[in-house]
Amino acid sequence: MRVVRTRDELADVRRTLPGRVAVVMTMGALHEGHAALMRAAKDSAESVLVTVFVNPLQFGPGEDLDRYPRTFDTDVAMCVREGVDAVFAPSLDEMYPNGEPAIRVGAGPLGERFEGAHRPGHFDGVLTVVAKLLHLTTPDVAVFGEKDAQQLALIRQMVRDLDFGVDIVGVPTVREPDGLAMSSRNAYLSAEDRQAALALHRALSSGDLEKARAILDDEPGVTVDYLELVDDETWAPASEGTRTGRLLVAARVGTTRLIDNMSVHLGTRIVG
Ligand code: PAJ
Repeated sequence: MRVVRTRDELADVRRTLPGRVAVVMTMGALHEGHAALMRAAKDSAESVLVTVFVNPLQFGPGEDLDRYPRTFDTDVAMCVREGVDAVFAPSLDEMYPNGEPAIRVGAGPLGERFEGAHRPGHFDGVLTVVAKLLHLTTPDVAVFGEKDAQQLALIRQMVRDLDFGVDIVGVPTVREPDGLAMSSRNAYLSAEDRQAALALHRALSSGDLEKARAILDDEPGVTVDYLELVDDETWAPASEGTRTGRLLVAARVGTTRLIDNMSVHLGTRIVG
């Protein structure tokens, strides 16, 4: 497996990759959720590229950019284990040689809701780096996790609206045995936080907005940023016509901010 740092090295490697190429974009601190993306990438293409880059554009002031976990050696070991062909891990200068880009991708109305309402500019930062990485890696397929469902929805919309000509594959959320969604940020949780954080999964598993709210209200270690039920297709608030919804939650547990979501079947609901 090759590890490359520059766009020229990446271009050289890219030329040698046989068949269809899938890319898995990450910020490192890799876990089993990322490994599932690599396996899905292998299932959908002959060659797999992983990118590792902690993108400052998507972090707001006062967020965790400086303390974001960096575990590059074990990340590379995972990529080798999963049969990845190459890792692209550019420096900040390599990605943004002219400093922060003045021209960015605007995430539109959905980019201002839910996560976007609590993290202004976050999705513009995400879509800008995803667009750059798609241009640099020129994949046939790009694989993203449902763990970040709003990010996945916005990437699908960007690819459609701006004709990127790449297939987007979504992968179900990988969880710990007790239900906690795997996340690089779980490394911040104390033992006590870790226990309190289970309320997020319990709440989503109830499949009901009011029950979910009651479960979260009952957990003093959890402060909810938002809890919403949206239509899984349109991301509008779930209505009487919604057959499949998605419960979304973001909450602070100690000093850690966690997000999670789950799809909910509403087809047989009786609306009174
Ligand atoms: P990161 O948080 O490292 O996640 C990289 C990819 O792994 C994303 O597609 C994310 O949805 C997926 N992922 C994370 N945890 C997962 C889990 N438990 N189960 C399944 N998939 C999971 O998301 C980002 O990085 C960045 O925003 C990025 C797209 C790389 C742009 O900077």
